[in-house]
Amino acid sequence: MTSCDKDCDKKRWDSSQLRKYDLGLEPIPRYHYQDPKVDELIKKNQPVLITGSKLVESALQKWSLEYLEKNLGKSGYTVYLSRNHKFKYFDEKKMLTKTNQKGVEFTPISKRVDMKVSDFMKRLKEWKRGEERIYLQQPLNSTVGPSIVEDYMKFDWPFVTSKKTKHNWGELTSNVLFISMEGNVTPCHYDEQQNLFAQIHGYKRCILFSPDQFEYLYPHPVYHPHDRQSMVDFERPDYARFPKFRNVRGVETVIEPGDVLYIPKYWWHHVESLMRGGPTITVNFWYKGGPTTLEYPLMDHQKVSIMRNVEKMLLEVLQDPKEVGPLLRSMVIGRYTEQ
Ligand code: OGA
Ligand code: FE
Repeated sequence: MTSCDKDCDKKRWDSSQLRKYDLGLEPIPRYHYQDPKVDELIKKNQPVLITGSKLVESALQKWSLEYLEKNLGKSGYTVYLSRNHKFKYFDEKKMLTKTNQKGVEFTPISKRVDMKVSDFMKRLKEWKRGEERIYLQQPLNSTVGPSIVEDYMKFDWPFVTSKKTKHNWGELTSNVLFISMEGNVTPCHYDEQQNLFAQIHGYKRCILFSPDQFEYLYPHPVYHPHDRQSMVDFERPDYARFPKFRNVRGVETVIEPGDVLYIPKYWWHHVESLMRGGPTITVNFWYKGGPTTLEYPLMDHQKVSIMRNVEKMLLEVLQDPKEVGPLLRSMVIGRYTEQ
């Protein structure tokens, strides 16, 4: 991956700002938004970096940290705190608590709090090495102030709506606003929705893997709070436990303000704000998958969805997560395996 085109005048970032992983990666194709290749790739559920669109133009110049602090509104925002740079998402509904006896015993390494934007910004500005890191991740809702509403209305809705229509996506479910410290990492996971990931400020490196890489990435069981997340720590892969991770193949890119990355549903993604690059701001556009008909051969994401349903069904009838593995083993080993 090159950090800069040959004739660009200003070096925007360099490879020393990327975290180091032992991964086989190729570049994600990038095309101008008017290039027909964009829709060809989206049609095939393939990632593409879309350049030159005006999707979030109304926010590009305006949405500085100061402007957002002034205009987001006074209500509480969802902020994650982490003792290291990794913010591995966890589903609180799947955690064992006093009120939730069905969950899994588990202590998350990050925590979720409600914070006023002004407190978040203060912590961001005053943050010192060794302190907990912070990451704001909040769907935009009706509590934002009138200026943000106006900017939001000026997003290029015809552009995204034409993608939705052309590719038969379902409804827009949310626009999550991400405000990150430099160096923060969202570890590898997949979502079940189509995502147009629009960069507003700063640089993010995105590493993606196709749904066919399922067995190389070892997702947590579906009932686990880390459902949809890879169990592999990219920085210190436990190859004894996850031997196939050595052979995982992915694609990557670094997005900059104005870029829109299409992350197809069920595609794995790891996202990192570049080190020493300052805070980053992103807004995503999450669309439901739309109706699916089963056509054969099945697509890889459909197989992942089938596996999720089998796992859910087994848990439902067995009632105890501990019984799912042993049942699957006795069903499969020696009968559906070579040995
Ligand atoms: C997403 C996502 C993570 C990030 O938009 O689905 O995982 O750190 N984003 O931006
Ligand atoms: Fe995601």
